[in-house]
Amino acid sequence: MKVRGKNYRAVWMEGRDVVVINQPLLPHKFALIRLKNHRQTANAITTMIIRGAGTIGATAGYGMAQAYLEGVDLDKAYQTLLHTRPTAADLKHALDRVRANAKTPAEAVAVAEEIADEYVERAEKVARAGLPLIKNGCRVLTHCNAGWLALVDWGSAPAPIYLAHRKGRKVFVWVDETRPRNQGAHYTSWEFMQEGIPHKVIADNAGGHYMQHGEVDLCIVGADRIAANGDAANKIGTYTKAVLAKEHGIPFYVAAPSSTIDLKCKTGADIPIEERDEDEVHYVGRERITPKGARAGNPAFDVTPAKYITGIITERGIIKPNQLKKVFSA
Ligand code: MRU
Repeated sequence: MKVRGKNYRAVWMEGRDVVVINQPLLPHKFALIRLKNHRQTANAITTMIIRGAGTIGATAGYGMAQAYLEGVDLDKAYQTLLHTRPTAADLKHALDRVRANAKTPAEAVAVAEEIADEYVERAEKVARAGLPLIKNGCRVLTHCNAGWLALVDWGSAPAPIYLAHRKGRKVFVWVDETRPRNQGAHYTSWEFMQEGIPHKVIADNAGGHYMQHGEVDLCIVGADRIAANGDAANKIGTYTKAVLAKEHGIPFYVAAPSSTIDLKCKTGADIPIEERDEDEVHYVGRERITPKGARAGNPAFDVTPAKYITGIITERGIIKPNQLKKVFSA
C-alpha cells in the first residue's frame, strides 16, 4: 500500500532486523521501528506495536528467522514467540512452518520471506473473490482493522473494498471505532484516508442504528482464528454486529486467508480468547474514565457462531461456513 506515494508493507526484514510500522503512533505520526532480535520482535507483538492476524504471523516468522541468525536455543525462541498473543492462528502457523522447513539461518529467512509474500498473494486473491459483493453504491460496515497494517499488504476485510474502489466503483464504509484499543478509528480510517475511500468512523454502539435505518448493505470483518465448523473469532464486538446483521437481513461476511483457519479447533469453543489488561478499559488516552477501584473485563476477541456468517471470503473463493472443512482439508 502507498503511504505518501511510497509502497510499504506492514513488516519486512532488512539484514538481521525486522522493520515494522510503529502502529501505536498512527494516525498522527508515520514512523518505522527496527527490531534487532527475536526478543524485541516478540515484545513488539505482545505490546501491539504490530497487530492484526496476518501481520502477527509474518512478524513471528521473521522473529523465528532472527532466532536462527542469533544462534540461540530455537525451542526457547519458539516458545517466546508463541506466547506473545494466544488467539491468532497465523502465529503458530508461521512459527511451525519456519521450524519445519529451515535447518540453516539462510533457509529460515527464505521461509519467513515466503510466508510474508504468500500473505500478499492470498490477500489479493481475497480481494478478487470478494469483489462481486461490492456493488456500485454499496455501503459496507466493518469492525476493527483487518487492512494492510493487519495483513502485511491489502488486508482481508477491506481488500475487496480497495479493489472495487480502484476499479472506479462507488463504495462507502461505516468504520466501527473498536473500543477499547480503537483499531477502527486509528488504523482503518487512516488506511482509508491514504486510499481515498469514503467512510465515517462511528461509535461501536451506532452500527445497529444504521442497520435499522437501511444504511448498511453488507458487513465484512476479518478473523483471528476460524474453527472447522465455521465459527470465527475476531475483535471483540464482532459477534454483536453479526447478530444485528441477521436481525436486519444484512449479509455478514468474514474475510481471511487459509492460514487463519484452524481445523484442529472443532468449534469456536476451542478458540483461546486473549484477556488483556484492565487499564485498556479504564483509560482513554491518559485519562481514567472509571472510578478508582472499579474493576473491568477486557476480552480482546469474541466468537461469531457460523449460523450468523453468510460466507467466508478466502483465497479459494467464498466458502459457506459448513463447507470449510471439506474445502480446506482437501
Ligand atoms: O487485537 P488486534 O488489533 O490484533 O485484532 C485485529 C483483528 O481482530 C483483525 O480483525 C484480525 O486480526 C484480522 S487481520 C487481517
